[in-house]
Amino acid sequence: MIDSYGRNITYMRLSVTELCNLRCRYCMPAEGICKKPHELMLTEDEMIQAVEVAAELGVTKLRITGGEPLVKKNIVSICRRAAKVEGIRDLAITTNGVLLPELGKDLKEAGVRRLNISLDTLDEAKYAYITRIGTLEQAMAGIETAIELGFEKVKLNAVLIGGFNDDEIKPLAELTRKYPVDMRFIEMMPMYDSGDFKEASFIPYTRVLEVLPELEKVEQDGGVASLYRLPEAQGNIGLISPINAHFCGTCNRIRLTSDGKLKPCLHSNAEYPIKGLDKAGMTEQFKAAIWNKPQWHGELNSIERSKAGRNMNQIGG
Ligand code: GTP
Ligand code: 5AD
Ligand code: SF4
Repeated sequence: MIDSYGRNITYMRLSVTELCNLRCRYCMPAEGICKKPHELMLTEDEMIQAVEVAAELGVTKLRITGGEPLVKKNIVSICRRAAKVEGIRDLAITTNGVLLPELGKDLKEAGVRRLNISLDTLDEAKYAYITRIGTLEQAMAGIETAIELGFEKVKLNAVLIGGFNDDEIKPLAELTRKYPVDMRFIEMMPMYDSGDFKEASFIPYTRVLEVLPELEKVEQDGGVASLYRLPEAQGNIGLISPINAHFCGTCNRIRLTSDGKLKPCLHSNAEYPIKGLDKAGMTEQFKAAIWNKPQWHGELNSIERSKAGRNMNQIGG
C-alpha cells in the first residue's frame, strides 16, 4: 500500500518479544524490563494473522526482531508459519546471535533466509561491558554457525560509539575479508532511556570513510545502508545513517510490536493497536497506520531524543 507521501510500504518489522538475554547499553536500561502480562502480548495466531494482513496490503519482506527474537519459545513455529504466508518472499531475523548455535538449523529449515547479527566490538572486555551480561565467545559462535549453515546473507551490525569502538572500525571492517559477511556501521540513535551516552559518544558515519579511504562504492541492495567494499573483500561495508542522512523519504517500513501496536515510524509515539482484532479489524488499523505514516521523524540529537516513547528493545530497531 502507498502512504500519503507516495512511499510504497513493502517491509514489515515484527518484534516477537521485548525480552532479551543481553542488556546492551544503547538499547535498554540496566535493570532490564518488567515482563508485561501475557494477555497483553500478541499470540502466535495473532502475529500470523497480522502478517497475512500486511501481505495482502503489499508487504513482501518480513524481518523478525525483538528484544531478542530467539528467546521467544515458539520462534521456530512463528517463522515457519510466516514464511508460508502468501506474498511473503523474504523472511529475515535480526538477532544478537547468542542462541544461533542451538536454533540456527531449525530457523533455516523453517524458511528464514537472511540474518543480521549485532557485533559492536571484537574485544572480550568491551563486549562484556556493552552488553552488560554477554560474552564475545557466544556472539562469535553464533556468527560462525550462521555462516556454516549457509544463510543467503549474513550482515553484522555495529553501533558506532565514541570512546568505545571508534578505534575498532578497521578490525571490524576486516571481517569482510575473513568471512562472507557484510559489516554495517550504524549511527547511534538517542532513545529516551538508553542513557549512558552523551553527545561525545555520537560518531557520524563519515568517520568510517575517513578511517577506510580504500573503500569503493558499490550498488545499493535496497536496504537503508549505503554500501562500500574493501579491496578483495567477500562482503560489503554498510553505513547506516539514521541521524546525519536520515532515510525517511524512501522509508518502506511499518513496525508491529510484541504487545500488538502498529508503529508507522520508529521515532514517533503514534501507535495503532491490533491486539484482539479479527482480520477485518486489523486491516483497518494497518490502513490507518500506513496512511498516517509521518513524513519524517523530526530532529534527533542528544537533546531532542527519540519521541518513540519506548526503548529499542520494545520496538525492534
Ligand atoms: P535489511 O535491509 O533487511 O538488511 O535490514 P535492516 O538494515 O533494515 O535491519 P536491521 O535490523 O539490521 O537494522 C539495522 C539498523 O537500522 C538498526 O540500528 C535499526 O534500528 C536501524 N533501522 C532499521 N529500520 C530503520 C528505520 O526505518 N529508521 C531508522 N531511523 N532506523 C532504522
Ligand atoms: N541506535 C542504533 N542502533 C541501535 N540498535 C539498538 N539500539 C540502537 C540505537 N540506540 C541496533 C542493534 C541491532 C539493531 C536491531 O538495532 O545493534 O543491531
Ligand atoms: Fe538485546 Fe539487541 Fe537490545 Fe542488545 S541491542 S539488548 S542484543 S535487543
